[in-house]
Amino acid sequence: AAEVAAADVSTAAALDQFRLLYLGRKGRLADLFDQLKTVPAEDRRAIGQQLNGLKQQAQARFDEAQAAVEAASANQPADANFDYTLPPVPNALGTRHPLNLVREQMLRIFARIGFAVAEGPEIEDDWHNFTALNFPENHPARDMQDTFFVEPAPGADVTQPFLLRTHTSNVQVRVMETEPLPIRRVMPGRVYRNEAISARAHMMFHQIEGLYVDENVSFADLKQTIYYFVREMFGEDINIRFRPSYFPFTEPSAEIDITCLICKGAGCNICKGSGWVEIGGSGMVDPNVLENCGIDSEKYSGYAWGMGIERITMLKYQVKDLRLFTENDVRFLRQFEAQ
Ligand code: PHE
Repeated sequence: AAEVAAADVSTAAALDQFRLLYLGRKGRLADLFDQLKTVPAEDRRAIGQQLNGLKQQAQARFDEAQAAVEAASANQPADANFDYTLPPVPNALGTRHPLNLVREQMLRIFARIGFAVAEGPEIEDDWHNFTALNFPENHPARDMQDTFFVEPAPGADVTQPFLLRTHTSNVQVRVMETEPLPIRRVMPGRVYRNEAISARAHMMFHQIEGLYVDENVSFADLKQTIYYFVREMFGEDINIRFRPSYFPFTEPSAEIDITCLICKGAGCNICKGSGWVEIGGSGMVDPNVLENCGIDSEKYSGYAWGMGIERITMLKYQVKDLRLFTENDVRFLRQFEAQ
């Protein structure tokens, strides 16, 4: 009884000890009750009463102390141990994706010289992706090797194949079919090609197409537009070259190369050691394409170009592997926080 009265019950932890020691099923009191059967029959009743008294005493002490401990903790603020001088934990804010940053930067540059944005579908029909653009029936780009064709729904009334667009040039066609002349448009968007994924290529990437159609548009106008863009995007200290090329929808056609800014001309896996990287294709809109879209090719001419946003972003920020753009590694993405 003296022991029960003297035990420490001042804290929640001590109280727990007390409960286990005296009231628990394996505690000291339970032990004493167990020993009751060894007590001679004539004494059992008296000792049993004493034990019951002790148990009540212990329970009473426990109840009282528990109430006291609870009252004490209720009087304290819940965060009494909280250090108000600690700096706050910052909110985890997301960052803008580098491809979006560069896309917007490119569109702003072209907006300054009068190019407004137009968009078109990613699931496209053969006419807008290929045929109107003067691709011959048997052109290799139509092959399953390069293009993702879309299976029509069973019983669907389709007269031509549907596919994931292989370039943003489909929007050229849609704009020329529907908009009044002159046309001055930039057309950003996602494109798809059936290619093996590597540091330089992906089966999904982004392009920005440009189109200008008016009277007396010349190749010199195209070159000045591209020069202006490259200077605005990368600065004065950069070389640009137009390399003769072929596209079914432009004539003449040229690929646009600039100094490789990843290795600054020293040679790397992106420019394959040449010091030059291609940033896009361009050319004068083929008269057949103008006619396919209902534009009089005797009166009007135009130029067009298409650039890869991934490529421009890699050059701008020295990103050596294009797969980083789609892996969503926050250690990569956070580096563009301040842009
Ligand atoms: N569509 C071409 C491509 O995807 C690029 C291009 C656009 C070339 C416009 C000329 C004119 O590679």
